[in-house]
Amino acid sequence: MSDEAFRTVIEPFRIHSVEPLRMTTAEHRRQVAREAGYNLFQIRSENVLIDLLTDSGTGAMSRDQWAAIQHGDESYAGSPSYFVFRDAVRELFPYEHVIPTHQGRAAEKILFGALGGVGKVVPSNTHFDTTRANIEFTGAEALDLVIAEGHDPSSLHPFKGNMDTARLKALLAERGDNVPCVMMTITNNSGGGQPVSLENLRAVSEIAHAHGKPLFLDACRFGENAWFIREREEGQGERDVPDIIRDMAACADGMTMSAKKDPMGNIGGWLALNDDDLAQQCRSVLILTEGFPTYGGLAGRDLEALAQGLKECVDHDYLRYRIRSTAYLADALDKLGMPCLKPAGGHAVYIDARALLPHIEPLHFPGQALAVALYEAGGVRSCEIGSVMFGRHPDGSESPAAMELVRLAIPRRTYTQSHIDYVIEVCERVKARAGDLPGYRIVDEPPALRHFTATFEQFG
Ligand code: F0G
Repeated sequence: MSDEAFRTVIEPFRIHSVEPLRMTTAEHRRQVAREAGYNLFQIRSENVLIDLLTDSGTGAMSRDQWAAIQHGDESYAGSPSYFVFRDAVRELFPYEHVIPTHQGRAAEKILFGALGGVGKVVPSNTHFDTTRANIEFTGAEALDLVIAEGHDPSSLHPFKGNMDTARLKALLAERGDNVPCVMMTITNNSGGGQPVSLENLRAVSEIAHAHGKPLFLDACRFGENAWFIREREEGQGERDVPDIIRDMAACADGMTMSAKKDPMGNIGGWLALNDDDLAQQCRSVLILTEGFPTYGGLAGRDLEALAQGLKECVDHDYLRYRIRSTAYLADALDKLGMPCLKPAGGHAVYIDARALLPHIEPLHFPGQALAVALYEAGGVRSCEIGSVMFGRHPDGSESPAAMELVRLAIPRRTYTQSHIDYVIEVCERVKARAGDLPGYRIVDEPPALRHFTATFEQFG
């Protein structure tokens, strides 16, 4: 039991092995940024001091996860490690078929390879970029139907990840024949790490099922979502997180999953579902692209580490610390007057770059400008989630994204409070000269997922 009377957000672990951080100078970082074409994905991580690019695969594994790795059985077929993994998944998500993949996007590729295609439309609260890209790759349309509050950075709605059920109903009434399934992303990463309520999940489930459509969860941050439900949803405050998760699972017919998030893996994912025929079809593709269905692109040792991580990520002391430590950063930035998306997300704080840098127009990428400035000023690597990521459409046209955000994603159990205090100081310095930051233009970009490889130059 933790003592909630204390103010300090204490990490519910102590450090067991350490890795060094490399200190760099501002001059060196400016050179590194220039040489990387101002694309932070192109920077070598030893030139980064605090890496908040992503919470994906960057968490610290526990003592017990490293111990579980020793139990890994590397048999090609029928490894006991698969069954340990499958049972740990089904403890929370009791779906019939559990198909391991090397990470989340591999599960998406396989699922939408089966369900997508030209003329189809897949609604979600908000698709993550790889999900969107995998849907669009099949010729289908990926449609975001988050509630209006989800687009308003200052709205304090407790479940800004909820889907607009009226729009879902209208879509199914108008184009139902072309909708193969409904998706829900929990938490809603591209919309600010915002949770979805159990009530909304149940309503979406009812609507989808009334039209005979399966509901799939993109469930990467299910533990964080469940904690928000426990804290914010009426009647949920006394419940055990695993029970809340089982209720979330019961709304859906399957899930795609990146185990690099809440399950504390450095690699891994899965596709789980109830439909026997669809599972059969997916397993056949899995064998072509990932591996045999009892390992699916992972080593037996990875499966063991994930099974243990699944137990740790639903622990109440861990989740309380996780959500409060993200809010700690958000509260401090708020005090500095840094415009942030509210309320704080589960895994990340999102700075509203459009509000901070009104002198930079959206297609000159205010989010990119802020992300580069944070790196150059203090070696803090963040991620633009705005018009660089979402501004270009499959037909080659461009329009501003709904929001221009910069995400400070917090790796799980990796940084201490003093690291975060340093990040706050870097933000303070950058804010003080926000009016001087230049906009950017793209010099070179690939046709899809341009944020990973595009190169930029500064205006002025
Ligand atoms: N869905 C969501 C909601 C995600 O956040 C991610 C990854 C994926 C699917 C794909 O999973 O990376 O294992 O293939 N998000 C990372 C991020 C990359 O930084 O937010 P993956």
